[in-house]
Amino acid sequence: MNPSVLHLVSKTSPAWLQHCLQHLDEVLVDHAHCEHKAAVTALSFISKYPDDPRLVVGLGELARDEADHFARAATLCTARGLPLGHPSKDPYVDGLLKQVRKSSVIDGRVDRLLCCAIIEGRSCERLKLLAQALPAHLQTDGQDELSRFYDELWREEATHHLLFIELAERTLSRAGHKPAQATVDVSSRLRELAEVEGALLASLPVRAAIH
Ligand SMILES: [Fe+2]
Ligand SMILES: [Fe+2]
Repeated sequence: MNPSVLHLVSKTSPAWLQHCLQHLDEVLVDHAHCEHKAAVTALSFISKYPDDPRLVVGLGELARDEADHFARAATLCTARGLPLGHPSKDPYVDGLLKQVRKSSVIDGRVDRLLCCAIIEGRSCERLKLLAQALPAHLQTDGQDELSRFYDELWREEATHHLLFIELAERTLSRAGHKPAQATVDVSSRLRELAEVEGALLASLPVRAAIH
């Protein structure tokens, strides 16, 4: 997946992929936690912003996808004898959410949706990297279950990325902005947040984790 399609300003470093391939068990456990958090976050958006029917239905479906991803990741962990444990702190997500503006309810809502769009975009890029690298790494023909799992998931995370952007645009247009202006404003804010995300990622140590 080309990072620009996902509105990312930087590519994941080869060092991240190499580190993760050497620590696949840790990656799997972290990934299960990420999917769990994604499902919970989607449901919490519905509680916080029930006014937009598209958001309610779209994020209801997204939460179902993420719960399915979580169940599949947890099953893979269990099959490998990996206990899930409690999730560790995620400095990446915490750092990104610090960017959420407090200037207005609408700005805060747009930023929360766009932070999720970026997290989905980065997850999509990285799950695809893992899907592509695993067959050679494990010396299989590409039919191993982990590679198939990641290959299915990155495609779904790409649709989630786009949904969050659409919901941010709807937030502005439903607040009275002209649709064309809402698109321009969201695109500009997304670029700003993507710049921050690229710098944040570069500042954090490489971890055997999706972020
Ligand atoms: Fe997911
Ligand atoms: Fe997702």
